[in-house]
Amino acid sequence: MQRLKNKSALITGAARGIGAETARIMAAQGATVFIADILDQQALKTASEINQEDGKAIPLRLDVTEEKDWYSALSEIEDTVGGLDILVNNAGVFLGKDFEEMSLTEWRTLVDTNMTSVFLGTKICAPLLRQSAKKKPHGSAIVNVSSIAGMVAAPNDQLYSMVKGGVTVFTKSTAVSFASKGDRIRVNSVHPGVVDTDMGNLAISAQAKRLGVTDTEQARKLSEERHPVGRIATTIDIANAILYLASDEAAFITGVSLPVDGGYTAQ
Ligand SMILES: NC(=O)c1ccc[n+]([C@@H]2O[C@H](COP(=O)([O-])OP(=O)(O)OC[C@H]3O[C@@H](n4cnc5c(N)ncnc54)[C@H](O)[C@@H]3O)[C@@H](O)[C@H]2O)c1
Repeated sequence: MQRLKNKSALITGAARGIGAETARIMAAQGATVFIADILDQQALKTASEINQEDGKAIPLRLDVTEEKDWYSALSEIEDTVGGLDILVNNAGVFLGKDFEEMSLTEWRTLVDTNMTSVFLGTKICAPLLRQSAKKKPHGSAIVNVSSIAGMVAAPNDQLYSMVKGGVTVFTKSTAVSFASKGDRIRVNSVHPGVVDTDMGNLAISAQAKRLGVTDTEQARKLSEERHPVGRIATTIDIANAILYLASDEAAFITGVSLPVDGGYTAQ
């Protein structure tokens, strides 16, 4: 039995990394997935790979910081499949700079991409999610991709931590707000530790630079050691958690912050 049969999912930042993996496993579970990103060629490639595996994937040009892009993406989704059941707010950037080195322009990029995007996505997708929820036994779902940095101190990435913390509490606030209005839209967040992606490698390099470590293998090992299970995450570790929260198996779960971090935040 496919866990997302007859459902549609919009996944931002899905051209590569965690978003692409989430799209792959959601499609394998029967969802029609919209691969939203600014990397057009990569989005097309990811969608083609999914379609070759008998999944249903559609690439979408969507800059998550642009309100007009959200509206045109939503109208394309409505025209193509008639509704939206799942939104995964995953797109993000990591700049790897101490707050004393960060410029105002960089801060605004961080806020726009990691936080304004979640506001726009939630606001603009809400009508379609609400409408689809009426036709499904367990309603619709939003999964926001925050970070361990949105739960506990990130002494080296204070501003990334501030915006991811915003996503953590917005998740809870919207979860309770939708539920109390009877909207049947669940909202939860996942909080990855370091993940083996382009962004994860950037985080490892930034940390190594601060520690004065030049050997990349040593830098990676240091990062692994900070996770109690002794390794960093793979994209499938995170995608499995997103899939669970988006599926009807999580029908009674809303407003939850789920760490997927090999024990990092349990210490
Ligand atoms: N990799 C990690 O170690 C890690 C840890 C904790 C949380 N996260 C979070 O997980 C999410 C995914 O990270 P990842 O590791 O897959 O990163 P990644 O850099 O591999 O992928 C991010 C994707 O987001 C897209 N993107 C960036 N700006 C965009 C915009 N304005 N509009 C649309 N798409 C945009 C990129 O093009 C890319 O495809 C992010 O929110 C990130 O903050 C990652």
